[in-house]
Amino acid sequence: MTTNRTFTMIKPDAVENGYIGKILDMITEAGFEIKAMKYTRLSQKQAEDFYAVHAERPFYGELVSYMTSGPIVAAILEKDNAVADFRTLIGATDPSEAAEGTVRKAYAESKGRNAVHGSDSDENADIEGKFHFAFEEIH
Ligand code: CMP
Repeated sequence: MTTNRTFTMIKPDAVENGYIGKILDMITEAGFEIKAMKYTRLSQKQAEDFYAVHAERPFYGELVSYMTSGPIVAAILEKDNAVADFRTLIGATDPSEAAEGTVRKAYAESKGRNAVHGSDSDENADIEGKFHFAFEEIH
């Protein structure tokens, strides 16, 4: 199991608002190396599968519809302590609770439209990275 990688998506709200470059800049400035990256759009099935863990939550339908509403940037990032450090960099799920200097404080619209995803564990980072990238797309 890798312990130095995490998976992220720049979500449709941040793409739509023109923040791809600014967010990637914050990510690389914080010391993360990009191991894989693509500009893509989730299908209904991909979004349902990716968020299957939230299937019973009241916001699941809204989440799937939002995540398929426009293109995203998906990436695998590498850094020591990647999962925890990336979650610190992006801030709390709800931008109104996110610390100053975090990606979500700067660029997220709301708890639902919250600009970026960050894996919550090494295990999920591995699963989520493999969900989006084939072996030969990871460098
Ligand atoms: P993320 O942590 O990337 O993955 C799960 C997502 O569910 C989370 O980001 C939010 O975008 C979304 N989410 C969590 N709680 C709520 C909520 N109460 N209402 C709408 N969306 C939510």
